[in-house]
Amino acid sequence: MSEAPDVLLRPGPVPALAGQRQRAAADTAFGEVFADHMVTARWTVADGWHDAALEPFAPLELSPAAVGLHYGQSVFEGFKAYHRTPDRAAVFRPTAHARRLAASARRMALPEIPSGLFVAATEALVRQDMDWIPEGDDRSLYLRPVLFASEAHLALRPARACLFVLLAFPTGNFFGAGGRAVTVAASEEYVRAAPGGTGAAKCGGNYAGAYLAQGAAAKRGADQVVWLDAVERRWVEELGGMNLFFVYGEGDSAELRTPPLTGTILPGVTRDTLITLARDLGLRVTEAHMALDRWREDCVAGRITEVFACGTAARVTSVGRVLGADGPWTIGDGLPGPVAGRLSVELAAIHRGEAADPYGWCHLVDRGTR
Ligand code: COI
Repeated sequence: MSEAPDVLLRPGPVPALAGQRQRAAADTAFGEVFADHMVTARWTVADGWHDAALEPFAPLELSPAAVGLHYGQSVFEGFKAYHRTPDRAAVFRPTAHARRLAASARRMALPEIPSGLFVAATEALVRQDMDWIPEGDDRSLYLRPVLFASEAHLALRPARACLFVLLAFPTGNFFGAGGRAVTVAASEEYVRAAPGGTGAAKCGGNYAGAYLAQGAAAKRGADQVVWLDAVERRWVEELGGMNLFFVYGEGDSAELRTPPLTGTILPGVTRDTLITLARDLGLRVTEAHMALDRWREDCVAGRITEVFACGTAARVTSVGRVLGADGPWTIGDGLPGPVAGRLSVELAAIHRGEAADPYGWCHLVDRGTR
């Protein structure tokens, strides 16, 4: 792997709206209004990673024959920076996201971006656009790195030139204000990932391939699609863009179950964080397969008391109702549950610096001299 180059400042004209627009922007739809800057870095077979620069957010110059556009050689990440003070931000687990991006890149025959460059790019962008970090519960600056094949060629081979771009946008609650419990619908027709496929990689095609199923779920009145395994069409894998947790029992004896990472599920950083937090709270967490029919039976029998989804964008979101092929069922009383609530509060306290951070998950970035 090549050495990480420094991120150089490449100045240019920037709209002078930072800090004014961000309050409104946090209430717009996800990823609609972008912060003023971005970081780009280039990779070629000959030179490795080079030319890393912080520059104004602007359209890219790209050949229409760029491999990433045609063959989907493209991976991305999503992580967040939280407001601490006007001059300090906490970026959550950037190195975990750098590792996952590298794993996704390997799967898609893309070059791995060095963790040092990933973190340096993050620091440069967060420092520059600190005024874009919204304050308040559920609000943050969402950081979106994308790495794709930019070489202009249409032969079927991995590209020899790639582009990394890190951009940012302020975001609020993914499912709208209020933290309601969402409705999910199991997809009988489509599958997200098959053994040996790209399910564990955060590649663009996994998301494009989900649109039809997501649309079908929305038509049935659901917020999200539930993916079942591709072989038996029986085992619950994950939601549209989130991992799932099932809660058995209540109070301190509650036990959490989440499907194991067998290669068809995205290894969520929030999933990993919640497993750790839950265990630290004294709850038992098991990675175990969950059949769709068992999900229903255990809800009807009252054994499953709540279910929640998690992801960087959605954080911790309770699931209140499931639409199966044979009819719907409700989880508990259909409202957000206490375990999800407790984990959500614990996580938010770490983000805001109000709770101890024993694992060093928060990477602090200071504005430096103004
Ligand atoms: C995230 O949770 O950050 C995701 O990447 C899911 C989706 C919004 C693309």
